[in-house]
Amino acid sequence: MWRKQNTKIYLLSMKEITANDVANFVKNGDRVAFGGFTPAGSPKVSALAIAKKAEEEHASGRPFRIHVLTGASTGDPIDGVLARADAIISRVPYQSNSDLRNLINEDRVQYCDIHVSHYAQQVKQGMFGEIDLAIIEVADISDSGEIVFTTAIGVSPTFFRHAKKIVIEVNEYHSPKIRGLHDIYETELAPHTKPIPLVTVRDRIGTETIRIDPAKIVGIVRTNMPDQVSAFSSSDEDTDRIGENVAKFLSNEILSGRILPQLPIQSGVGNTANSILKAMSAETSIPPYTMYSEVLQDSVIEAIKSGNISFASGAALTVTRECLDEIYGNYDFFKTRLILRPQEISNHPEIILRLGIISINTALEADICGNVNSTHVFGSNVVNGIGGAADFARNSQISIFSCKSTAKDGKISAIVPFCSHMDHSEHSVKVLVTECGVADLRGKGPRQRAHEIINNCAHPNYRDLLNQYLSIASRGHLPFSLSNVFKMHETFTAEGDMRKTVWGS
Ligand code: COA
Repeated sequence: MWRKQNTKIYLLSMKEITANDVANFVKNGDRVAFGGFTPAGSPKVSALAIAKKAEEEHASGRPFRIHVLTGASTGDPIDGVLARADAIISRVPYQSNSDLRNLINEDRVQYCDIHVSHYAQQVKQGMFGEIDLAIIEVADISDSGEIVFTTAIGVSPTFFRHAKKIVIEVNEYHSPKIRGLHDIYETELAPHTKPIPLVTVRDRIGTETIRIDPAKIVGIVRTNMPDQVSAFSSSDEDTDRIGENVAKFLSNEILSGRILPQLPIQSGVGNTANSILKAMSAETSIPPYTMYSEVLQDSVIEAIKSGNISFASGAALTVTRECLDEIYGNYDFFKTRLILRPQEISNHPEIILRLGIISINTALEADICGNVNSTHVFGSNVVNGIGGAADFARNSQISIFSCKSTAKDGKISAIVPFCSHMDHSEHSVKVLVTECGVADLRGKGPRQRAHEIINNCAHPNYRDLLNQYLSIASRGHLPFSLSNVFKMHETFTAEGDMRKTVWGS
């Protein structure tokens, strides 16, 4: 790592460049790493210029496509514009953009979807090849070369260390007050790994800023724009019911003494996650709790303001512009209640296990054994990716998954005999929640679990069908009929409605 005596060299190397200069620097076939985590902290302008260059090159009959590494999903200013310009050869580790998703499902982009917690280690091991250029957004660079991140650290410390060259986007939208929000700590590769000294959600174990090798810097690009985070659409009756079911379950756990009230919560993203946090805030028997999570959304900030969340640790502050402005406006209040960490720390299995986290994530479908699919529709087309859900689900004290009991106007049951793709196995899933109820799978054998899931979580329209399957699959430890496990999926594909399923013998 660069040391302070290099300050002079550092400052001399800070050449101001434009996004077009960045695009000119990038060559066909390069591996380009973008900082940030979600739209939070992602560079704002360089990808657009690279996409324009790709379009110009393609129009002149020249190939121009790059390998794209990010922290997680990025939003339209990176994944969207590059996908539409057909500028991506491969993409790692998580995405959620519809244009990119289409290319992936058409097999035109290689998508390597990996656990958030494993990613930094794999970059350090060189699994994705040499990084030609890292483009990283920062809020500030001090005279002595200290880099202050913006709303996410992501995997940027690792990109800084391993990229051959670096472009820094200095985003002047951010208040200098943001210095101190970050706790930067990097793990080493085995056999040099050490225990991570984090024992409470609030602990600081690293540094506020990072220094980088000035010799690597191609230049700095100045921007002034907030993260492109859109507000989630309002919740509906089903997500509200799911939220209430989760909150009631947690409240019973606390009242029965099975879990301690202050155990930290991890919550996924989206409308269901927002409804769950809202319902937890309304549940009077849930005292103020902490969060050790990945993405901190507006709903977390709301809960901090109302006193329902006493402290939140995350990988990204993925909040709307209005919410960020409010945080800066009341920074003295928020700075003692928020911390951002690199994703290898926010999602680290060792810490999740130690803190006894209660994880709450979303499923696309779940089966009567308790397996969960959160990534692939009908086993084939990816929606987003596994993200950090498995980091938490596999290592948390209680791993809760929720989803609506049906999709596509009731024609698809989210509860099926066997998942068409599996992200979280029956061994990791402890509690399943739909708008219909809660299936507590802890301490139960496979057939008990199947009854619990069918009776409490399946939509009433599908309960008879699933019970019939259970009586067909009556042998063995698991309820599994090889010739029938995907019959509901097959029926939807052939007839457009799972309710028309007829079981074979
Ligand atoms: N079968 C087929 N399609 C299904 C389905 C099922 N069982 N369940 C949902 N769908 C469809 C929906 O109809 C919707 O289709 P549309 O886009 O055409 O409307 C689409 O899949 C997404 O469903 P929706 O209910 O809107 O999903 P969501 O916004 O609640 O997200 C996940 C659910 C699972 C996709 C999302 O949580 C995710 O990507 N999770 C993985 C990563 C993760 O957990 N991150 C957090 C960890 S920290």
